[in-house]
Amino acid sequence: MSTGQLAGKVALITGGASGIGAGVAAVFASQGAHVVIGDLNGVAAEEYAASLGKEGHLASNYALDVTSRADIDKVMKSIEDSLGGVDILVNNAGISSVRDFVDITDHDWDTMMNVNLKGVVLTTQRVIPLMKERRWGRIINISSMAGKQGLPRLAHYCATKFGVIGITQSLAFELAPFNITSNAVCPGVVRTPLWDDDANGILNDLDGENGWNSFVNGIPLGRPQSPQDMGNACLFFAARSGDNVTGESINVSGGQQVH
Ligand SMILES: NC(=O)c1ccc[n+]([C@@H]2O[C@H](COP(=O)([O-])OP(=O)(O)OC[C@H]3O[C@@H](n4cnc5c(N)ncnc54)[C@H](O)[C@@H]3O)[C@@H](O)[C@H]2O)c1
Repeated sequence: MSTGQLAGKVALITGGASGIGAGVAAVFASQGAHVVIGDLNGVAAEEYAASLGKEGHLASNYALDVTSRADIDKVMKSIEDSLGGVDILVNNAGISSVRDFVDITDHDWDTMMNVNLKGVVLTTQRVIPLMKERRWGRIINISSMAGKQGLPRLAHYCATKFGVIGITQSLAFELAPFNITSNAVCPGVVRTPLWDDDANGILNDLDGENGWNSFVNGIPLGRPQSPQDMGNACLFFAARSGDNVTGESINVSGGQQVH
């Protein structure tokens, strides 16, 4: 029998095979949750769940595309059959790209909206009915510093992350009568493949290390954030500590953003 602040809970973490999502999964698993890694990269999801399992944690994995209602439905049915359903949803799957505003293509816009915004809508819609029935649920959305402050060359990304905060707040009101909370975590800068990926990493369009340093140099606490920092913030919302907190979007940015 598992122990910890999340013992007995099933937590689905979308995009949980890499970066921030993996950090959230590690923190939740260490607190006794059964973590379900749902990721577009099914191989990475399987490998990561296996590594958590080897450490003695409870972990499952699925190949999951959050832009596909059919995919989501299939995965949720399987989670319901095998684990009883999702108690805690972390909408973390996300992508980014850097573009001058006038160069944002239809494809850039549609892809960003689909993954970062529609993915949150579709996945959350699917978990709500069971949470309502149980009168307990925790929805945690990963927004961004860029969800509260516009940034140059990131208008399409910012639009999605501002949107995530809007959804978070609307759901907080709509779901409060069912004891379901809805909150967001806004990371500052976490060095993940989102920045570094050879093909799509945003540093490719941001002057490499100079681009990274320009983000990191202004952090009052003097260091970038870690996936574990984000896991700890998500844990606050998922555990008893968050029982009376909803509609919030908390910055985890070392003081870089304070509103
Ligand atoms: N890294 C940062 O500095 C930072 C800052 C602010 C916000 N964020 C947000 O944090 C979240 C995670 O970012 P990260 O830095 O860990 O990125 P990452 O690239 O390391 O991880 C993202 C994961 O999402 C998965 N994914 C992508 N599209 C998907 C889809 N359609 N369906 C399911 N999974 C999909 C990827 O396979 C990958 O495993 C994103 O929402 C991102 O916008 C990151």
